[in-house]
Amino acid sequence: MTLHRRDALKLGLSAAALTALPRFLVRSAAAADHAAEPLITRPIPSTGERLPVVGIGTARRYDHASAAGKAEIKEMLQVYPSLGGKLIDTAESYGEPLVGELVAELGNRSSLFLATKVGTTGKEAGREQIERSFRRLRTDKIDLFAVHNFVDVDTQLATLNELKQAGRIRYVGVTTSTHRQHAIMEATIKAQKLDFIQVDYAIDNREAADRILPLAQDRGLAVMINVPFGVTRLWGAVQGKPLPDWAAEFDCRSWGQFFLKYIIAHPAVTCAIPGTSSAKHLPDNMGAAHGRLPDAAMRTRMEQYLATL
Ligand SMILES: NC(=O)c1ccc[n+]([C@@H]2O[C@H](COP(=O)([O-])OP(=O)(O)OC[C@H]3O[C@@H](n4cnc5c(N)ncnc54)[C@H](OP(=O)(O)O)[C@@H]3O)[C@@H](O)[C@H]2O)c1
Repeated sequence: MTLHRRDALKLGLSAAALTALPRFLVRSAAAADHAAEPLITRPIPSTGERLPVVGIGTARRYDHASAAGKAEIKEMLQVYPSLGGKLIDTAESYGEPLVGELVAELGNRSSLFLATKVGTTGKEAGREQIERSFRRLRTDKIDLFAVHNFVDVDTQLATLNELKQAGRIRYVGVTTSTHRQHAIMEATIKAQKLDFIQVDYAIDNREAADRILPLAQDRGLAVMINVPFGVTRLWGAVQGKPLPDWAAEFDCRSWGQFFLKYIIAHPAVTCAIPGTSSAKHLPDNMGAAHGRLPDAAMRTRMEQYLATL
């Protein structure tokens, strides 16, 4: 692999990071251009610790990866911190085993913010599942532990808060990815002491913006956005369609960045977690964490444009 100093500087990478830089990044002109601008980060309100506005979700292909797929994900996780990346979202039902294995092999646990979830009924079953997550992620401290889809939410939150008190968990939260649970999300935000919520929100799925996002902002919660592309929904909508010229006004060079910048421009949002297992998608998505973001009028224009496609 040949990498010129000019490329490295454009990527904003240190000399030490160069030896680890895989070919897919060298080819990524979009990533290089964007990395000239500072990485956008947001504070977690309960502590002020800052997170990059784009993370990685692991729900789709981490659990059935072929040998080649696993090698590709390993390359991504190796270079991710060099791009300023930090947050990886897993769950009791996906991502944990492979992320734990690869992060242990790479030895870069301290550069990452690991999030996972508990999703079972009963105090004892919850404790067992949580301990399994520590073993699978091969760490003695988990950055964020959330209750998955409100399964036995009060019981599991009590356990997570005990573990937070004991210093084994840094932040506690709840997650959903469906509007059918927005009412329980709202009630839980009001009733419990949380650090984070994770909720579905996308340019064509805006219900969370009605009540959940303003409430979370008002209560001082970090907000992580899942399913930012609707898995395949948004890709289907824009297939074969060119980006509008005016996307350049907010430093957007791809549909992925169009969808992500729409989300992270919302003032209540801390970060989005696009599911990412293809190496070419990582620099594209991280590119959304650089440059200008759309303002409110531009976000409306983006919604209207998408509706015409
Ligand atoms: N209730 C919950 O707590 C809950 C529920 C659902 C999801 N989640 C979390 O949220 C994350 C995101 O949701 P998701 O993965 O279901 O769906 P998503 O992020 O909306 O979409 C993921 C899909 O988009 C593709 N993609 C990613 N970046 C791209 C790019 N720049 N250009 C083109 N395609 C791109 C991915 O492909 P590749 O994989 O090939 O890169 C994958 O097929 C999950 O991974 C998970 O961590 C949480």
